[in-house]
Parts: sequence; structure tokens; C-alpha cells
Amino acid sequence: MEFNASSAQLLKIEADSLVLPTGSQLENIAKEIDAALDGAITSLIESGDFSGKASEACVLRNLNTPFKRIILVGTDGASNPQKMIKAIEAGASALFKTPAVNAVWAIEGLAEDHDWQATIVARSTLTAAYQYSGTGKKPKPKKLETVTYWCASENDSNIANQGLNYGGAIGNGMNTARQLGNLPANICTPNYLAEQASQLAEEQANLTTSILNESEMKKLKMGSLLSVSTGSVEPGNLIVMNYTGADSSLKPIVLVGKAVTFDTGGISLKPGRGMDEMKFDMCGGASVFGVMNALLETKLPVNVIGIVPAVENMPAGNATKPGDVVTSMSGQTIEVLNTDAEGRLILCDALTYAGRFDPDIVIDIATLTGAVIGALGKFTSGLLSNDDELADQLLLGGTKSGDRAWRLPLWEEYDKQIKSNFADMANIGGEAGTITAACFLARFTKAYKWAHLDIAGTAWLSGPQKGATGRPVPMLMEYIRSKTVSE
Ligand code: BES
Ligand code: MN
Ligand code: ZN
Repeated sequence: MEFNASSAQLLKIEADSLVLPTGSQLENIAKEIDAALDGAITSLIESGDFSGKASEACVLRNLNTPFKRIILVGTDGASNPQKMIKAIEAGASALFKTPAVNAVWAIEGLAEDHDWQATIVARSTLTAAYQYSGTGKKPKPKKLETVTYWCASENDSNIANQGLNYGGAIGNGMNTARQLGNLPANICTPNYLAEQASQLAEEQANLTTSILNESEMKKLKMGSLLSVSTGSVEPGNLIVMNYTGADSSLKPIVLVGKAVTFDTGGISLKPGRGMDEMKFDMCGGASVFGVMNALLETKLPVNVIGIVPAVENMPAGNATKPGDVVTSMSGQTIEVLNTDAEGRLILCDALTYAGRFDPDIVIDIATLTGAVIGALGKFTSGLLSNDDELADQLLLGGTKSGDRAWRLPLWEEYDKQIKSNFADMANIGGEAGTITAACFLARFTKAYKWAHLDIAGTAWLSGPQKGATGRPVPMLMEYIRSKTVSE
């Protein structure tokens, strides 16, 4: 799919479809189009066929314009970024319900910021185009070929082109993350992920990949990580992807993504109902792949290292048992009270390893606790951090991209709950499971500025829409981009 911005006269742009987000009060370009259509939009509103309410879509055909169809989408006033994003996403999905080949978006006057708006258009169009493939019937390719973002002035169209590039990269990054997330666990194994990382680095001068296998991890004394994969016939891998977009003197941002390619719970076996969804327990790692992909596409001038500990958590005769004590790479010992709290066991060693890169900051991303869904539902990721500035910047990136998080505390009272009589700490303890899990991780991240994103609620949808969402790629990219602007 091709994206470009244009400031040509709207009604002279060659496209078969126009996407026009609007509220019930027609303004600016919507007013002009309405006039060109002899009041067709006004009459739709008056007859009650189109209300302009959030996400409502309505297709007009047989028009005396060059367009075969105009897709009206309700904006509900679109007074904040979240509403704007919803409206644009609704427009993109309505677009794909038509046989459109060339589409033009006209959202002049909705927001002032064409960079941002074009970012969301490109991202939403690409994520709406995504179709799962790999198992089952091959999906029919979508017909849409070109997407034009229209704006009134040439200056604006230059700005919009930047946004389209950036948003396109985010959309592709999200789709990369979704595809990896959606693949079943008998295909998407730790070795499969390692293979994907090696492929990503092929013919890319600014990305290198290295894979640590189990014996190399053993040499590094990653006893905690290895205690999770021991019960699986699939060997674990520590995947390291190194993107250099800036001078090597610039300290890297390190992203650490949990990739449990399937989480049965281990000996602390999970109940059967809905267990298939534990194939999504690698979505943190998948989001790191998504970001790497987006960085290669945008060539942002930053250095980012992605670390993905990839393992499968299975019960077996040689699996770790509740009560076993393991020694992490940091030297701290851990009493494994519950083998289903495995994410923190692989992350702690990966986080210790992250320290080797002399990071500017470290962010881990993990489908870590069911408890975060109880606290924040499926809409908001949990954020915990040992640095207020970093936390604020991530929250801001979330608000701007509509991929939001909310911060929870990391106070001492919670940390006390993971004390053990038999080791330096236990891997579970007390109430507020999202916080105690993060307190566990915090014991391994004292050397640097660190944030933890618990995406157990946001990484995938259940029910009829079951599938990975590609979150939090937009938030992470917004954060990374903000670093390039301010420094
Ligand atoms: N991968 C799960 C977290 C999870 C559960 C994500 C449900 C999405 C939906 C994680 O490994 C896990 O099992 N966590 C346990 C921790 C508990 C044993 C302290 C949980 O949340 O139940
Ligand atoms: Mn688990
Ligand atoms: Zn898990």
C-alpha cells in the first residue's frame, strides 16, 4: 500500500473513494463537499440516516463527483486524541468493507496537527488491512492500493508526509507483533522467534541479531530463566537485536520483552478453560519485534537494543516444582512458590543481562499478571517505574498514541510481601499481584532507570475478536521518537 499527502484541489484528486470524518455539525471541508453534493450530507443528517456519532459509518454512492463513494464517519465532536483515533479507525475499517482501490482522506479542520493526524491515518489503514495468515485458508489480498492524505496547503502536505511515513512504520510494526502473537505455539516456538530475529537483521546494516542458546545462558548463570524452560522439549533462547540509528556514544534504550511461547503454568498447571490464549504470552517479545521493525522503517536516530527471553513453560518430570530454589544471574536466590509466575523468572535474568549494555533506560514489556486486568481492564496497560520522569514520558506517549497506560506504585509495603524463609525472595506473595510482580523485577533493576509495562490486558482481545492487538508498539514508538526530538 502506498501513502502520500496532497494539497491539490480535493475534488480533482483521482481516487474512487473519499473518507470524510465529520460530526453532525458540518465544518470546513465537510461543508464544501456537502455543497458540491447539493446538500446530500445535510439531508442524510436531517433524515436521521447519519448522526455523526462516534464510529458510525455511512457510504454514499452515485454521486456527481469523481468519487465512486464517499464514506462518512462519525467523529462525535472528536474533542480529544482518543476520540479522533476511534473515528479514524472506524473510517479505515469502513473503507475495507468497500472494494476501494484508491482512497483519499479529508480531515482538514478536525485537528491542527497534520503530522499526528496523518500518523494515525497510516497506522489505522495498515492495521485495518491486516489479515492473519499462516494456518487455515489463505486470505484474499485487500484491493486498496493507494491512500492519499489531503490537506489545504503544500506546507501541511509536507508535514503530513512525515506523519504518513512514521505512522506507516508503526502500523507495520503492530502487524508484525500481531502476526507473531496470533501464530499458534506449535509454530511460534522459541526457535521460530530466534529465526525471525535473524531474518530481520538480514541485509540491514543497522541491525544485528545474536542468539544465546541454553548452554550459553548456563555459562552466564541464568538459573532463573533456565528453570522455566527445563520442563519443555523446546529449548529456550535469549534473543538480542541491536539497532544502531545514532552514534555509538549515545546510550541505548533497552527493551526487554517477555516471550513465553506457551504458558501452561508448569507444575502449577493452569485450568483448561481458555488456556489456548496462553499462546499470546509472548506478546511482550512480539512488541519488541514490532518496534525493531518500525525503527528499521523510520530510521529514527536512536540506539535501541531489544532483548527477548523466549521459552515455553511446561509441566514435566524434570520441570521446576513449587518450593524449588533457583539462583538468578544476579546471584540472588528465588524460591519458586508457583511455577505459573514464570514471566518474572525469565525477565529477571534478561534484565540483569540488559545492564551489560550501559543503558540510558530499560523498559520491559510483559503479559505478566492476570491481576492487571482486574485493576485496569482490557483498555489500559499497567506501568510501574523506578523513575518519575521516565514514567511521565511513557504516559505521555500513551496518551498521544491512544495506546494508554496508568501508573501503579512500587512501595516498600508491597515489596515485603515477596520475602521467603528459604531464599532471598519468593516469586509470588500477597495481594496486588501486578505490583508485587513488579517489586520482584525492581530487585534486579536497581542499576538503571527502568519501567515495566504489564500488557496482560491490552496485548490481545478475546471472544469473537480473538487476536493480538499490536500494543504497546504505538506507545513505545511515541516514547522513542520523543527522545529524538528532545535530545
Ligand atoms: N501469563 C500469565 C499472566 C496472564 C494471565 C496474562 C491471564 C493474561 C491472562 C502469567 O504467567 C501468570 O500466570 N501469572 C499468574 C501469577 C500468579 C501465579 C501469581 C497470574 O496472573 O495468575
Ligand atoms: Mn504463568
Ligand atoms: Zn505467563
